[in-house]
Amino acid sequence: MTREIYVFNDLQELADRLAQDFRKAVENKSKAGEMIFIALSGGKTPRIFFDVLAKPPYLGEIPWEKVNLFWGDERCVPPDDPESNYKMANDSFISKVNIPDDNVHRIIGENPPELEVNRYAKEIQTNLPDEKNVFPVFDWIFLGMGDDGHTASLFPNSLTLHEKTDICVIAEHPSTGQKRISLSLPVINNARRVSFLVTGKDKAPVLKEILEKGATLLPYPASKISPTDGLLEWYIDKAAAPELYK
Ligand code: 6PG
Repeated sequence: MTREIYVFNDLQELADRLAQDFRKAVENKSKAGEMIFIALSGGKTPRIFFDVLAKPPYLGEIPWEKVNLFWGDERCVPPDDPESNYKMANDSFISKVNIPDDNVHRIIGENPPELEVNRYAKEIQTNLPDEKNVFPVFDWIFLGMGDDGHTASLFPNSLTLHEKTDICVIAEHPSTGQKRISLSLPVINNARRVSFLVTGKDKAPVLKEILEKGATLLPYPASKISPTDGLLEWYIDKAAAPELYK
């Protein structure tokens, strides 16, 4: 695994750089005549990045027909629910760019979780062309991190962290009990590129521990993200990494 850390002054600067990196990744795949398979993160942090993608130059310059969008996790709610990760992405950029409907693979949050966990896993298996270590390979997975060190919907002390064979898991938010569908750790760690987007001072203590100690010494799900043959990136702002930025 290769690890890179990029520190930005603020979320807008992070979003601008990430949009450039996004365009470059899509264009590289497009030039090779290939599709790119991406899993978006949920929560609020990606919003500014999504807004940048919905404006020129990205709006008209990215070959959106080459992009296949999935989600790293979703709340088990309908697509018009304010809690829906799909709704946030659709409102901020998907509905504004020229991406074919068939290239948008939302997790159907309104389905019963015990059905959706298998349906979505099958949709991933059917659409991703590459497989490695018996798991599908995403080109790029975006992740957020909670101030408790959760990522996607993999929460601390959850049995979902021990999933070794399934592509997706049914998770439950520890305080609200809200059901979630999430990619499992083995699938996330099978990706070619995994990028965390982490900003704000609330996340600084856990982020410091993870960046300094890393690996399996910590209880945080985010510290278990270690793409076997891939690139792990931390797109962070100064507020989340005051120590890194003297
Ligand atoms: C979700 C996410 C979750 C999120 C973090 C950070 O569905 O909530 O996937 O892992 O990325 O909780 O959320 P914020 O970006 O809102 O801080």
